[in-house]
Amino acid sequence: MSAPNLLEIKGLNAHYDKSHILHGVDMTIRQGEIVSLLGRNGSGRSTTLKTIMGLVKPTGGEVRLAGTNLAGERAYRVARAGIAYVPEEREIFANITVNENMRIGLQPARSGVPQWSMEEMYDFFPQLKDRRNTAAGMLSGGEQQMLTICRSLLGNPRVILIDEPTEGLAPKIVEVVTEVIREICKKGVSVLLVEQKLTIALRVSERVYVMGHGEIVFEGTPETLRSAHDIRRDWLEVS
Ligand SMILES: Nc1ncnc2c1ncn2[C@@H]1O[C@H](COP(=O)(O)OP(=O)(O)OP(=O)(O)O)[C@@H](O)[C@H]1O
Ligand SMILES: [Mg+2]
Repeated sequence: MSAPNLLEIKGLNAHYDKSHILHGVDMTIRQGEIVSLLGRNGSGRSTTLKTIMGLVKPTGGEVRLAGTNLAGERAYRVARAGIAYVPEEREIFANITVNENMRIGLQPARSGVPQWSMEEMYDFFPQLKDRRNTAAGMLSGGEQQMLTICRSLLGNPRVILIDEPTEGLAPKIVEVVTEVIREICKKGVSVLLVEQKLTIALRVSERVYVMGHGEIVFEGTPETLRSAHDIRRDWLEVS
């Protein structure tokens, strides 16, 4: 039997001032599942993650984590409830070391939730270990992305929302980041991934959603999306 839904998004709406961006988004994610949210530029993927996280206030709908509705809660409360967010812009503190950046993410253990240590982070990304006493601002873009992921994981989340983690990274680093995403879910954390590279999204995900103009226009397995030529043509490929 498959795991129950950990995160349930129901009828989510969001506006920026008068612009109506999300129009009743429904999504579910089970524990330990990797789900990708795909779509063209401007389709509303980042807004979906920000609205789940409470960084954009929803104008309707529910964000249920293990049954508790978090919609309308402030971001720090959503984080405390167990949802972590890795934004597109890498959020590191440039003037302090890699090690200190990691320590900022440390949170006490939550019962029944996978727990992470700094040692595990350094095992994932040995190049961060080599540079642990370096000011984070000196790191490459890829290393800053790794550090942002580590800091989020050290908060021991139940679900992690990751926005375009491989953007602008060299192919070798893309492989490392992809492997870490697999490890995260193996330990029981759910991952909601926004990924521009379709081949990567199809390779790592158990299920995918496609968004167009702030609505879910497709939901299915990577295999069904591979053969859904009309969906890919209408909502994903750049014409
Ligand atoms: N802070 C904002 N204020 C006003 N409009 C915004 C804001 N952020 C995004 N938008 C608009 O909302 C729509 C959805 O943007 P969103 O960032 O969610 O798209 P996306 O799917 O993540 O695409 P991409 O990352 O390629 O920009 C777009 O039309 C965008 O211009
Ligand atoms: Mg975006």
